[in-house]
Amino acid sequence: MTSLHVTRTLPEDATDAALRADVRRGLTSTPKTLPPKWFYDARGSELFERITELPEYYPTRAEREILLARAGEIAAATGARTLVELGSGSSEKTRHLIDALTALRVYVPVDVSESALTQAARALIEERPGLAVHALIADFTADLTLPSTPGPRLLAFLGGTIGNLLPAERAAFLASVRRLLSPGDTLLLGTDLVKDERTLVHAYDDAAGVTAEFDKNVLAVVNRELGADFDPAAFDHLAVWDARHEWIEMRLRARTAQTVKVPALDLAVDFAAGEELRTEVSAKFRKSGVMAEVAAAGLELTHWWTDTAGRFALSLSTVR
Ligand code: AVJ
Repeated sequence: MTSLHVTRTLPEDATDAALRADVRRGLTSTPKTLPPKWFYDARGSELFERITELPEYYPTRAEREILLARAGEIAAATGARTLVELGSGSSEKTRHLIDALTALRVYVPVDVSESALTQAARALIEERPGLAVHALIADFTADLTLPSTPGPRLLAFLGGTIGNLLPAERAAFLASVRRLLSPGDTLLLGTDLVKDERTLVHAYDDAAGVTAEFDKNVLAVVNRELGADFDPAAFDHLAVWDARHEWIEMRLRARTAQTVKVPALDLAVDFAAGEELRTEVSAKFRKSGVMAEVAAAGLELTHWWTDTAGRFALSLSTVR
Protein backbone atom coordinates (compact mmCIF):
# COMPACT_ATOMS: atom_id res chain seq x y z
CA MET A 1 0.00 0.00 0.00
CA THR A 2 1.29 3.36 -1.06
CA SER A 3 0.23 6.57 0.59
CA LEU A 4 0.95 10.26 0.67
CA HIS A 5 -0.40 12.39 3.46
CA VAL A 6 0.29 16.12 3.71
CA THR A 7 -0.08 18.16 6.89
CA ARG A 8 0.27 21.93 6.95
CA THR A 9 1.17 23.30 10.38
CA LEU A 10 2.13 26.62 8.90
CA PRO A 11 -0.81 29.04 8.61
CA GLU A 12 -0.86 30.72 5.19
CA ASP A 13 -0.19 34.13 6.72
CA ALA A 14 2.46 32.98 9.23
CA THR A 15 5.22 33.26 6.65
CA ASP A 16 4.24 36.80 5.82
CA ALA A 17 4.14 37.86 9.48
CA ALA A 18 7.50 36.20 10.15
CA LEU A 19 9.10 37.85 7.11
CA ARG A 20 7.84 41.29 8.16
CA ALA A 21 9.12 40.86 11.72
CA ASP A 22 12.52 39.56 10.53
CA VAL A 23 12.99 42.33 7.95
CA ARG A 24 11.98 45.08 10.36
CA ARG A 25 14.27 43.76 13.10
CA GLY A 26 17.17 43.08 10.75
CA LEU A 27 17.14 46.34 8.80
CA THR A 28 16.82 48.49 11.94
CA SER A 29 19.68 46.67 13.74
CA THR A 30 23.35 47.70 13.82
CA PRO A 31 24.95 46.09 11.93
CA LYS A 32 22.07 45.34 9.54
CA THR A 33 21.13 41.68 9.03
CA LEU A 34 18.58 39.52 7.22
CA PRO A 35 18.03 35.86 8.23
CA PRO A 36 19.11 33.29 5.59
CA LYS A 37 15.81 31.43 5.57
CA TRP A 38 14.35 34.06 3.23
CA PHE A 39 16.72 33.14 0.38
CA TYR A 40 14.61 30.18 -0.64
CA ASP A 41 11.79 31.28 -2.89
CA ALA A 42 11.54 29.41 -6.23
CA ARG A 43 14.43 31.41 -7.75
CA GLY A 44 16.55 31.11 -4.60
CA SER A 45 16.00 27.36 -4.40
CA GLU A 46 16.99 27.03 -8.06
CA LEU A 47 20.14 29.11 -7.46
CA PHE A 48 20.99 26.98 -4.43
CA GLU A 49 20.68 23.84 -6.58
CA ARG A 50 23.16 25.44 -9.01
CA ILE A 51 25.51 26.26 -6.12
CA THR A 52 25.61 22.59 -5.14
CA GLU A 53 27.04 21.82 -8.60
CA LEU A 54 29.78 24.49 -8.52
CA PRO A 55 33.40 23.27 -8.43
CA GLU A 56 34.06 25.48 -5.36
CA TYR A 57 31.04 24.31 -3.34
CA TYR A 58 32.21 20.99 -1.90
CA PRO A 59 29.71 20.35 1.00
CA THR A 60 26.98 18.69 -1.05
CA ARG A 61 29.37 16.30 -2.82
CA ALA A 62 31.24 15.56 0.41
CA GLU A 63 28.03 14.75 2.26
CA ARG A 64 26.78 12.58 -0.60
CA GLU A 65 30.06 10.65 -0.51
CA ILE A 66 29.59 9.95 3.21
CA LEU A 67 25.94 8.97 2.79
CA LEU A 68 26.84 6.56 -0.02
CA ALA A 69 29.67 5.00 1.97
CA ARG A 70 27.83 4.79 5.29
CA ALA A 71 24.15 4.25 4.52
CA GLY A 72 24.43 0.56 5.44
CA GLU A 73 26.09 1.36 8.76
CA ILE A 74 23.48 4.02 9.50
CA ALA A 75 20.71 1.51 8.76
CA ALA A 76 22.31 -1.11 11.02
CA ALA A 77 22.98 1.33 13.85
CA THR A 78 19.50 2.88 13.86
CA GLY A 79 17.12 0.13 12.72
CA ALA A 80 14.90 3.05 11.77
CA ARG A 81 11.25 2.38 10.96
CA THR A 82 10.51 6.11 10.66
CA LEU A 83 12.78 8.65 8.99
CA VAL A 84 12.06 12.31 9.72
CA GLU A 85 14.00 14.71 7.53
CA LEU A 86 14.14 18.38 8.49
CA GLY A 87 14.54 20.89 5.65
CA SER A 88 14.22 18.06 3.17
CA GLY A 89 13.97 20.26 0.06
CA SER A 90 14.28 18.06 -3.00
CA SER A 91 15.21 14.98 -0.84
CA GLU A 92 17.78 14.01 -3.48
CA LYS A 93 20.65 12.93 -1.19
CA THR A 94 18.25 11.21 1.18
CA ARG A 95 17.41 8.67 -1.50
CA HIS A 96 20.62 6.75 -0.73
CA LEU A 97 19.67 6.60 2.92
CA ILE A 98 16.08 5.56 2.25
CA ASP A 99 17.30 2.79 -0.07
CA ALA A 100 19.53 1.42 2.70
CA LEU A 101 16.95 1.62 5.51
CA THR A 102 15.38 -1.80 4.99
CA ALA A 103 13.09 -1.59 8.04
CA LEU A 104 11.73 1.82 6.97
CA ARG A 105 7.94 2.15 6.94
CA VAL A 106 7.29 5.88 7.13
CA TYR A 107 9.18 8.84 5.68
CA VAL A 108 8.32 12.25 7.15
CA PRO A 109 9.89 15.05 5.07
CA VAL A 110 9.55 18.46 6.73
CA ASP A 111 9.94 21.66 4.74
CA VAL A 112 8.39 25.11 4.40
CA SER A 113 8.13 24.62 0.64
CA GLU A 114 5.01 22.65 -0.27
CA SER A 115 6.01 22.26 -3.93
CA ALA A 116 9.43 20.79 -3.10
CA LEU A 117 7.80 18.42 -0.60
CA THR A 118 5.04 16.98 -2.72
CA GLN A 119 7.21 16.64 -5.84
CA ALA A 120 9.87 14.71 -3.95
CA ALA A 121 7.25 12.61 -2.17
CA ARG A 122 5.53 11.56 -5.40
CA ALA A 123 8.79 10.43 -6.99
CA LEU A 124 9.68 8.46 -3.90
CA ILE A 125 6.34 6.72 -3.62
CA GLU A 126 6.70 5.41 -7.17
CA GLU A 127 10.09 3.93 -6.38
CA ARG A 128 9.29 2.49 -3.00
CA PRO A 129 5.75 1.15 -2.87
CA GLY A 130 4.92 0.15 0.68
CA LEU A 131 6.55 3.24 2.12
CA ALA A 132 4.11 5.72 3.63
CA VAL A 133 5.05 9.36 3.16
CA HIS A 134 3.70 11.89 5.61
CA ALA A 135 4.90 15.27 4.37
CA LEU A 136 4.88 18.06 6.91
CA ILE A 137 4.75 21.68 5.77
CA ALA A 138 6.36 23.32 8.76
CA ASP A 139 9.13 25.61 9.93
CA PHE A 140 11.57 23.31 11.73
CA THR A 141 13.02 26.21 13.71
CA ALA A 142 9.63 26.64 15.34
CA ASP A 143 8.13 23.95 17.59
CA LEU A 144 7.33 20.80 15.64
CA THR A 145 4.71 18.18 16.33
CA LEU A 146 5.42 14.89 14.59
CA PRO A 147 2.76 12.42 13.46
CA SER A 148 2.69 9.26 15.57
CA THR A 149 4.65 6.73 13.54
CA PRO A 150 6.45 3.47 14.40
CA GLY A 151 9.82 3.67 16.22
CA PRO A 152 12.70 3.68 16.25
CA ARG A 153 12.79 7.10 14.65
CA LEU A 154 15.77 8.54 12.83
CA LEU A 155 15.71 12.31 12.57
CA ALA A 156 18.00 13.64 9.83
CA PHE A 157 19.16 17.23 9.47
CA LEU A 158 21.55 17.28 6.51
CA GLY A 159 23.42 19.76 4.34
CA GLY A 160 25.13 21.60 7.16
CA THR A 161 22.05 23.78 7.55
CA ILE A 162 22.46 23.72 11.36
CA GLY A 163 25.40 26.05 10.66
CA ASN A 164 22.99 28.74 9.46
CA LEU A 165 21.69 29.06 13.03
CA LEU A 166 23.50 31.26 15.56
CA PRO A 167 24.89 29.45 18.65
CA ALA A 168 21.91 30.29 20.88
CA GLU A 169 19.46 29.29 18.11
CA ARG A 170 21.39 26.02 17.65
CA ALA A 171 21.12 25.20 21.35
CA ALA A 172 17.36 25.87 21.31
CA PHE A 173 16.98 23.86 18.09
CA LEU A 174 18.89 20.81 19.44
CA ALA A 175 16.87 20.95 22.67
CA SER A 176 13.63 20.89 20.66
CA VAL A 177 14.97 17.99 18.56
CA ARG A 178 15.74 16.11 21.79
CA ARG A 179 12.13 16.61 22.93
CA LEU A 180 10.91 14.95 19.71
CA LEU A 181 12.99 11.82 20.35
CA SER A 182 12.43 8.84 22.65
CA PRO A 183 14.97 6.30 23.93
CA GLY A 184 16.20 4.25 20.94
CA ASP A 185 15.71 7.14 18.51
CA THR A 186 18.65 8.83 16.79
CA LEU A 187 19.74 12.13 15.23
CA LEU A 188 21.75 12.15 11.98
CA LEU A 189 23.42 15.53 11.64
CA GLY A 190 25.39 16.98 8.69
CA THR A 191 28.05 19.55 9.65
CA ASP A 192 30.61 21.31 7.49
CA LEU A 193 34.07 21.31 9.09
CA VAL A 194 36.63 24.02 9.86
CA LYS A 195 39.27 24.15 7.13
CA ASP A 196 41.58 26.62 5.42
CA GLU A 197 40.15 30.08 4.84
CA ARG A 198 40.76 30.08 1.09
CA THR A 199 38.66 26.97 0.45
CA LEU A 200 35.86 28.33 2.62
CA VAL A 201 35.77 31.80 1.10
CA HIS A 202 35.75 30.41 -2.45
CA ALA A 203 32.90 28.04 -1.57
CA TYR A 204 30.82 31.12 -0.68
CA ASP A 205 32.14 33.45 -3.40
CA ASP A 206 32.46 31.40 -6.58
CA ALA A 207 34.11 32.54 -9.79
CA ALA A 208 30.92 32.22 -11.85
CA GLY A 209 29.03 34.53 -9.49
CA VAL A 210 26.17 32.13 -8.72
CA THR A 211 26.51 32.65 -4.95
CA ALA A 212 26.50 36.44 -5.49
CA GLU A 213 23.23 36.08 -7.39
CA PHE A 214 21.84 33.82 -4.64
CA ASP A 215 22.86 36.35 -1.99
CA LYS A 216 21.20 39.25 -3.84
CA ASN A 217 18.04 37.18 -4.34
CA VAL A 218 17.04 37.94 -0.75
CA LEU A 219 16.69 41.59 -1.83
CA ALA A 220 14.36 40.52 -4.65
CA VAL A 221 12.29 38.56 -2.11
CA VAL A 222 11.94 41.62 0.12
CA ASN A 223 11.10 43.77 -2.94
CA ARG A 224 8.39 41.39 -4.11
CA GLU A 225 6.87 40.51 -0.74
CA LEU A 226 7.10 43.89 1.00
CA GLY A 227 7.14 46.30 -1.96
CA ALA A 228 10.72 47.43 -1.20
CA ASP A 229 12.90 49.17 -3.78
CA PHE A 230 16.28 47.50 -3.22
CA ASP A 231 18.49 47.76 -6.32
CA PRO A 232 20.46 44.48 -6.28
CA ALA A 233 23.03 46.05 -8.65
CA ALA A 234 23.79 48.67 -5.98
CA PHE A 235 25.28 45.97 -3.71
CA ASP A 236 28.39 43.80 -3.90
CA HIS A 237 28.44 40.25 -2.57
CA LEU A 238 31.21 39.22 -0.21
CA ALA A 239 32.14 36.18 1.85
CA VAL A 240 34.15 36.74 5.04
CA TRP A 241 35.72 34.13 7.33
CA ASP A 242 35.21 34.99 11.00
CA ALA A 243 38.06 33.06 12.66
CA ARG A 244 36.88 33.80 16.19
CA HIS A 245 33.41 32.30 15.70
CA GLU A 246 34.61 29.86 13.05
CA TRP A 247 31.89 30.81 10.63
CA ILE A 248 31.55 32.23 7.13
CA GLU A 249 29.47 35.37 6.76
CA MET A 250 27.82 36.35 3.51
CA ARG A 251 27.33 40.06 3.26
CA LEU A 252 25.97 42.60 0.79
CA ARG A 253 27.95 45.84 0.71
CA ALA A 254 26.26 49.06 -0.47
CA ARG A 255 28.28 50.52 -3.33
CA THR A 256 27.00 54.04 -2.62
CA ALA A 257 25.01 55.88 0.04
CA GLN A 258 21.34 55.11 -0.55
CA THR A 259 17.92 54.98 1.05
CA VAL A 260 15.73 51.90 0.57
CA LYS A 261 12.00 52.15 1.11
CA VAL A 262 10.00 49.24 2.52
CA PRO A 263 6.36 50.40 2.13
CA ALA A 264 4.77 47.35 3.78
CA LEU A 265 6.69 48.20 6.95
CA ASP A 266 6.36 51.97 6.52
CA LEU A 267 10.14 52.03 6.76
CA ALA A 268 12.99 53.91 5.05
CA VAL A 269 16.43 52.41 5.56
CA ASP A 270 19.61 54.45 5.08
CA PHE A 271 22.76 52.73 3.90
CA ALA A 272 26.13 54.52 4.08
CA ALA A 273 28.53 53.96 1.18
CA GLY A 274 30.36 50.70 1.96
CA GLU A 275 27.89 49.67 4.67
CA GLU A 276 27.45 45.90 4.95
CA LEU A 277 24.27 43.90 5.44
CA ARG A 278 24.84 40.38 6.85
CA THR A 279 22.65 37.86 5.04
CA GLU A 280 24.01 34.53 6.29
CA VAL A 281 26.16 32.89 8.90
CA SER A 282 27.43 29.43 7.96
CA ALA A 283 29.23 27.94 10.95
CA LYS A 284 31.95 25.35 10.49
CA PHE A 285 32.45 22.68 13.13
CA ARG A 286 34.96 20.44 14.89
CA LYS A 287 34.12 17.05 16.38
CA SER A 288 34.65 18.35 19.93
CA GLY A 289 32.16 21.17 19.35
CA VAL A 290 29.46 18.94 17.86
CA MET A 291 29.91 16.48 20.76
CA ALA A 292 29.55 19.27 23.30
CA GLU A 293 26.52 20.84 21.60
CA VAL A 294 24.57 17.58 21.29
CA ALA A 295 25.55 16.64 24.86
CA ALA A 296 24.19 19.96 26.14
CA ALA A 297 20.86 19.01 24.53
CA GLY A 298 20.79 15.58 26.24
CA LEU A 299 22.11 13.57 23.30
CA GLU A 300 25.21 11.38 23.01
CA LEU A 301 27.34 11.26 19.88
CA THR A 302 27.96 7.62 18.92
CA HIS A 303 29.29 7.81 15.35
CA TRP A 304 31.36 10.38 13.42
CA TRP A 305 32.02 9.90 9.72
CA THR A 306 33.83 12.26 7.34
CA ASP A 307 34.47 12.20 3.61
CA THR A 308 37.92 11.02 2.50
CA ALA A 309 39.20 14.58 2.24
CA GLY A 310 37.95 15.39 5.77
CA ARG A 311 35.87 18.37 4.71
CA PHE A 312 32.42 17.45 6.03
CA ALA A 313 31.01 15.21 8.77
CA LEU A 314 27.91 13.17 9.41
CA SER A 315 27.33 12.26 13.02
CA LEU A 316 24.86 10.00 14.72
CA SER A 317 23.64 10.71 18.24
CA THR A 318 21.32 8.81 20.52
CA VAL A 319 19.08 9.88 23.36
CA ARG A 320 21.10 9.85 26.56
C1 AVJ B 1 23.39 24.24 2.66
C2 AVJ B 1 21.89 25.85 3.44
C3 AVJ B 1 23.74 25.19 4.75
O1 AVJ B 1 25.39 27.49 4.42
O2 AVJ B 1 26.44 26.29 2.96
C4 AVJ B 1 25.27 27.93 0.11
C5 AVJ B 1 23.54 27.62 2.01
N1 AVJ B 1 24.79 29.65 1.28
N2 AVJ B 1 25.98 28.96 -0.35
C6 AVJ B 1 25.43 26.78 3.39
C7 AVJ B 1 24.52 28.37 1.14
C8 AVJ B 1 25.69 30.00 0.36
C9 AVJ B 1 24.15 26.45 2.66
N3 AVJ B 1 23.27 25.48 3.38
